[in-house]
Amino acid sequence: MDTQETLDTFIGYYREHGHHRLTGSSLRPPPGDPVLFTTSGMHPLTPYLEGRPHPGGTRLVNVQRCLRTTDLDEVGDDTHLTVFEMLGSWSLGDYDGPTSLRWGHDLLRYGFGVDPGRMHVTVFGGDDQVGPDTGSLATWTDLGVPVELTRDDNWWSNGPTGPCGPDSEIFVWTGDGPPEGTPTGDPRWVEVWNHVMMRYRRHPDGSLEPLVQRNVDTGMGLERMVTVLQGHRSVYGSDGFEPWMTRIPRLWDLDGESLRIVCDHLRSGIVVLGDGIRPSNTGQGYVLRRLVRRVLTRLWRGDGSRTLSDLPDTLIGHTLDHFGQEVGIGPVRGVLLDEERRFRELLRRGRPVVDRQRRRGPLREEDFRYLHDTHGLPRELVTGLLSELE
Ligand code: SER
Repeated sequence: MDTQETLDTFIGYYREHGHHRLTGSSLRPPPGDPVLFTTSGMHPLTPYLEGRPHPGGTRLVNVQRCLRTTDLDEVGDDTHLTVFEMLGSWSLGDYDGPTSLRWGHDLLRYGFGVDPGRMHVTVFGGDDQVGPDTGSLATWTDLGVPVELTRDDNWWSNGPTGPCGPDSEIFVWTGDGPPEGTPTGDPRWVEVWNHVMMRYRRHPDGSLEPLVQRNVDTGMGLERMVTVLQGHRSVYGSDGFEPWMTRIPRLWDLDGESLRIVCDHLRSGIVVLGDGIRPSNTGQGYVLRRLVRRVLTRLWRGDGSRTLSDLPDTLIGHTLDHFGQEVGIGPVRGVLLDEERRFRELLRRGRPVVDRQRRRGPLREEDFRYLHDTHGLPRELVTGLLSELE
């Protein structure tokens, strides 16, 4: 099953079960929202999980692009991406958690053809505020799926306050031999789907209050699911990355990790640009700037003359098309090249300054501040230059 078929199967299943399809929103959260980027499918739905009636009804489904800055340092491994798509389904005070789990099992088994013998789940085992999630435990036991009980790993929240609740995560065995161990102890169990029983709101003092309605919020990482279904070990092997993983190595000779980071960050940078964000020194724009600079740092490690001018239009176009973004290839390329020019110039100016500073001894906090405030050199860049100069 390729990416499009996986998406259509998920959406189709939920539509058959009376869910209204939403159009996914942009990576930019609505005005006034404190987070930098949309981090999960539920995020734009927060007011409706808290009780406001949704115009689409009480059963919803969508695919939402997400960006988690907390995952940035993990990118380069087999499963994390900077920008990823999340398939999601919601019961806004409609059906209960066990129904969601049963449908989930049904869809995995018959819709996606996952062997039930290769599934394992985790369930919230209770803590000092909330008891164990007995509904989920009983449902999985009845379905014959092995359960591991955990505490913190099975409590989902989008931040320190707001809607939250116990969750049940579904893992698929990706090892070569028969399944062994449990999800928390063996990374060959890959998490593909999370069902959150979103029934509480956490207050700033840490206390929990039941929400006016009992919701279910599920999220499945599309790229990760496709990877598992296609039997690849890494998300970069799946069809969505095929054009990237074919064209980039022909252009630049990179080590394995650099290749992944370059492909991920360029693809993610294009999507961020496609949502109207421009590079800057703060907020969303700074995340974009860091993505581009990390790409350039990797490229220039091997050869300082490499340039993003060589990036083929087809890769930019493929990404914008996939995410349904209307900004043209030309403007995206223009911003990338402009960033490259700026970064080259910053390094040219910064290298001797950092070199002078480092000769006086190890850099202290105030040196970093001075380099930033007087020379416009961010800490990350100074650290990079330091290791280059050593
Ligand atoms: N909100 C949950 C998650 O992000 C399920 O959608 O995993």
